[in-house]
Amino acid sequence: KNEKKTKVDKTETVHNTTKNLSIKFKQRDKDGKNSFESVIQKGLKNTLLHTPTKSRRTSLKHGSLTPSAKIRTKALAKPITPLQEARMRLHVSTVPKSLPCREEQFNDIYTFLESKLMDNSGGCIYISGVPGTGKTATVNEIVKCLKRSVEKDKLDYFEFVEINGMKLSDPRQAYVQILKQLSGKVLTWEQAYNVLEKKFNSNVKRPMTLLLVDELDLLCTKRQDVIYNLLDWPAKVFARLIVITIANTMDLPERVLMGRVTSRLGLTRVTFQPYNYKQLQEIVLTRLKDINIFKNEALQLIARKVSAVSGDARRALDICRRAAEITEIRNGATVTIHDVNEALSEMITNPKVQAIRHCSKFEQIFLQAVCSEVTRTGVEEVCFINVYRQFEFLCSFDGSETPNITQTLDICTKLGDYRLLIYEYSGSNIHQKILLNVSKDDIHYALQKVDHD
Ligand SMILES: Nc1ncnc2c1ncn2[C@@H]1O[C@H](COP(=O)(O)OP(=O)(O)OP(=O)(O)O)[C@@H](O)[C@H]1O
Ligand SMILES: [Mg+2]
Repeated sequence: KNEKKTKVDKTETVHNTTKNLSIKFKQRDKDGKNSFESVIQKGLKNTLLHTPTKSRRTSLKHGSLTPSAKIRTKALAKPITPLQEARMRLHVSTVPKSLPCREEQFNDIYTFLESKLMDNSGGCIYISGVPGTGKTATVNEIVKCLKRSVEKDKLDYFEFVEINGMKLSDPRQAYVQILKQLSGKVLTWEQAYNVLEKKFNSNVKRPMTLLLVDELDLLCTKRQDVIYNLLDWPAKVFARLIVITIANTMDLPERVLMGRVTSRLGLTRVTFQPYNYKQLQEIVLTRLKDINIFKNEALQLIARKVSAVSGDARRALDICRRAAEITEIRNGATVTIHDVNEALSEMITNPKVQAIRHCSKFEQIFLQAVCSEVTRTGVEEVCFINVYRQFEFLCSFDGSETPNITQTLDICTKLGDYRLLIYEYSGSNIHQKILLNVSKDDIHYALQKVDHD
């Protein structure tokens, strides 16, 4: 009974409300407008919700929308203590005023480029060396000096174009990037290629072009037509083009191009050897200039450790900075050998190094084999069967019997499961591609420690 009553009550209330609403709706104000409408319009006016009279789109011209980072309102805190200042100077992003230990390479490359620019003749130069040996830094400095010569009217104006294999999603994007930097036009790669091909074959008087191709190794895909064209264009009579290529391996032109290009124009080569410990010491000290924060033996330890592994200046600078940070945390003023040892042991205790240390003997040898293959080819992505050849060699060197291919494929799969390697999941086969998922230095440090144990 009660339920029925409440239901009736509810229906009555709803009925009454609709009735009231319809009465209100029927009441018209003086302008003949519905009072409900006027109430809503008043409300809209109050909340400033009105339809814009002018379309906003008209003000957004094509290309006027550029993403921008938030502007920094406060200046970055300036280093206060000598340790902070030193850490800033040792940062890899800080461009040093001079590049010690690279004077010879600087002169060779500078003279080559200057003479070609003066003669208005084309040319190719091939610069190789392992990571962190100052290739990019030296070439950047040279280009800066050449531009300065242009400003001083010692050289004719030249166009400078720079591409980096690492920043291209596809090797053929190189054409797009080159054309974009030369003319500001963005075209598809086929169109860009055609425009460039026409430009470098036409007899029109124009300034010389200097093209820098950094990280060339990464342009070496199955289709080598891009590298071939980039190195072939300077040989054209009207090209007026000089190409500077930077790569990690020495034999890339022979291996990839099989002498197709080198025979036509001749390829001038400059090799950057890994830094020895004295050079690394000099590099750090030159960057620090008057700030003397390292105890002699502390810096020597870093330089020796790095030169024994890779001779990579980047690595040496990073360890120096970390050691300085450790000194700062303990409120010290001078970086001691203990701080350096702590920085080095941090590297050894990092999880990946620990994982390598806990691998089986053959897994460790396989990782070393991948490292050797990467060093041999200069390309990060290596093929299983080529790694297996290195593995066989390292096993025999170790005095162990080499596991067969099936067993080694299992080792490779396990290393992939530990995430120390990245490999193709499309079925284990001898042609699968393998990629290291740890740095070569980590492998070296991990295995060196195992040797000592
Ligand atoms: N002779 C040097 N003096 C001072 N700093 C140096 C020197 N050589 C290298 N560096 C520093 O080491 C870092 C790495 O150098 P750079 O980028 O030129 O190496 P890279 O040979 O191009 O390596 P990658 O093959 O990995 O590209 C940079 O910060 C650079 O300033
Ligand atoms: Mg470089």
